[in-house]
Amino acid sequence: MRYRQFGNTDLELSELCFGAMRFTSTADHVTLPGERSQAEAEQQNREGRRALEAALGAGVNCIHSSGDYGTRWMLSEILAEHPKRHDIHHVIKMTTPDYEEGHVDPRVLRDSVEEALRDLHTDRIAIVQHLQRGPHVPKAEAYAAEGDARRIAALPEILEPLQDTFEALKREGKVGHFITFPHTMGYAEAALDTGAYAGVAHFFNVIEPEALPILDRLEHEGRGFLAIRPLLQGMLTDKRVQRDGLPADDLKHRAGWDSRYALLEKIRASIGEPDAGWTNFALKFALAHPAVTSLVVSANNERQVEAMLAACDGNYPDREMLDRVYALVEEVGMPPKADLFGL
Ligand SMILES: NC(=O)c1ccc[n+]([C@@H]2O[C@H](COP(=O)([O-])OP(=O)(O)OC[C@H]3O[C@@H](n4cnc5c(N)ncnc54)[C@H](OP(=O)(O)O)[C@@H]3O)[C@@H](O)[C@H]2O)c1
Repeated sequence: MRYRQFGNTDLELSELCFGAMRFTSTADHVTLPGERSQAEAEQQNREGRRALEAALGAGVNCIHSSGDYGTRWMLSEILAEHPKRHDIHHVIKMTTPDYEEGHVDPRVLRDSVEEALRDLHTDRIAIVQHLQRGPHVPKAEAYAAEGDARRIAALPEILEPLQDTFEALKREGKVGHFITFPHTMGYAEAALDTGAYAGVAHFFNVIEPEALPILDRLEHEGRGFLAIRPLLQGMLTDKRVQRDGLPADDLKHRAGWDSRYALLEKIRASIGEPDAGWTNFALKFALAHPAVTSLVVSANNERQVEAMLAACDGNYPDREMLDRVYALVEEVGMPPKADLFGL
């Protein structure tokens, strides 16, 4: 396992960060549809447990989680007794103000941290990822210019109480770094301009490479980046890259994925088929920029962890490949970013 520094901080993260959003039968966000029997749910939990244990055993030192994912209970069970629990760097998600809320509530920050410390059997959260969805931004405007303008205008008044609370938590030794999960690139620039954030967590993958210019800025400024969903929720894998071969009930047949598969066809026609397959390429692509510290990626079983470990090896694509894919996506237009859950 290779490790990278988070910006110019002293935090060293493994190139893979275990995304804990899907690895239990109780997860709120699934990539596979349908009801599970009791036996299937238990099997899924056993496989998810083995995935996390295999990742930690292979040197993964970072876990991304949230109290909202419906999966914390299993992290809690595993970490309670795990010999490496004090070596893990936790990234947690924290949202305030939420879409329709009028004001920031710094108690959400403190409560999220205290809850995570308890659940994860740790005494420090390395990175708190702040998601500002409001104030007064209906969900439909979350990624639109109207919502953006309101979120950006409110940044100064939102940040003041949050920074006070974060500094207090830091003095108590409970947190390390504060980063933004921006939704849009306009907001990302504005949030970075405030100087309050040590880095950014955002989607970064072959279909969603819009953060590339931000990565250049982060590298220049010594701030870190966490690349979320490098496999685009399982689409950019050998299993799903060929859509017509998927089982009839696979969620990727739904209309919401049409524009993403159309874009992928164009990219495949331009760059060709990667020698070591798509799962491998997609992960290497997301690690190709030096500002990317770690990939926040979900693995549901040991085989998926093994494929990820294999990708974090050898050479990564060069800058020319990043620019080429970025230009192709710009030319066609990136599919609307919208919430992909349930599409
Ligand atoms: N997606 C979001 O909007 C979002 C938002 C905030 C935070 N996050 C964080 O980011 C993490 C990753 O997001 P994500 O799960 O949406 O996207 P992802 O990591 O790009 O995709 C993960 C999915 O890809 C499939 N997969 C993984 N390894 C594979 C392999 N070797 N071969 C074939 N398929 C493989 C698995 O689905 P199957 O097992 O079903 O095939 C897995 O659930 C989350 O756990 C969470 O911590 C995500």
